[in-house]
Amino acid sequence: MTSKNIYILAIESSCDDTAAAVLLNDKLLSNVVATQDIHQKYGGVVPELASRAHQQNIVPVIHQAIDQANIDKKDITAIAFTRGPGLMGSLLVGTSFAKSLAMGLSVPLIEVNHMQAHILAHFIDEENYSKPEFPFLALTISGGHTQIVKVTDHFEMQVLGQAIDDAVGEAFDKSAKILGMPYPGGPLIDKYAQSGNPKAFKFTKPKVAGLDFSFSGLKTAVLYFIQKQVKENPKFIEENRDDICASIQYTIVEILMDKLKMAVKQTGINQIAIGGGVSANSGIRKTLKEAEKKYGWKTYVPKFEYTTDNAAMIGIVGYYKYLKGDFANLSITAQARYKI
Ligand code: KG4
Ligand code: ZN
Repeated sequence: MTSKNIYILAIESSCDDTAAAVLLNDKLLSNVVATQDIHQKYGGVVPELASRAHQQNIVPVIHQAIDQANIDKKDITAIAFTRGPGLMGSLLVGTSFAKSLAMGLSVPLIEVNHMQAHILAHFIDEENYSKPEFPFLALTISGGHTQIVKVTDHFEMQVLGQAIDDAVGEAFDKSAKILGMPYPGGPLIDKYAQSGNPKAFKFTKPKVAGLDFSFSGLKTAVLYFIQKQVKENPKFIEENRDDICASIQYTIVEILMDKLKMAVKQTGINQIAIGGGVSANSGIRKTLKEAEKKYGWKTYVPKFEYTTDNAAMIGIVGYYKYLKGDFANLSITAQARYKI
């Protein structure tokens, strides 16, 4: 470890959250997120509106992050930004801003892979939080991705399985939309599920080979089920909301757990870390805790603020890359599809 004080300013703009954070080495000093409510009424993220909102939010969000960290712009050692994966228009706002700021302040620029950041969020220094030890398996579950990754080092990661169609967050959000809930519906399904019976309704689990995931069938199953029930009883959704949500959430958690169990068996690794927006889900958190007792796993669940998109996780990757001297050229461009 270095004795130097490294201040990383991190910028995240890959989807619909404009975020900035400041880290001092591996410790978080500030973490600011501006969520874009504009998408709610459209039932999903509208890329054009997202990039416009990023442009409006980015300057105030960065100022706030610097102010809250109680530092001066000239203290910044390096600037880390999300290069991809994500929506091109959204990524371009953060990328261009990071490049100009790095140039203006004459500090190094560090590019970060968003999915790698969801995994390395576990390495932000926190009191009473032990970091995962290598090797471990990471389950990254978000609105855009579902992956099981074998992590052997901070930057040595191998994707063992992933979604072949919808991501798990989409399964939550699209099911919620069928139930008439606003976007993003994942947190609402979670909320209502807590007072419902998870075994009230049964949805079939998809059969997908190996460690890959499929969630589009579940969304269709929910749609047909709801259409059929509503035809018989127009009040079916309002009368059964909690049970429907609990049953959908139960099925999704089962699908994730089945693949995790398979991955543990295949690799012999029983340390599991989760990341991404869906790791905020109470069902998956509870089931993972139970798995510690049931299967002898060691599980790592991030602090709530590091689950959905944030810049703190971009900053911790920035810090590790800074230590390696892994800097980006100022001619770097955003990359919508960017593998781990
Ligand atoms: O990581 P994230 O903020 O953005 C992406 O990179 O996609 O993840 C957003 C996703 C959305 O689909 C949202 O519905 C889901 O995470 N989500 C949840 C919960 N909180 C957020 N899904 C289920 N239960 C939650 N508590
Ligand atoms: Zn994300």
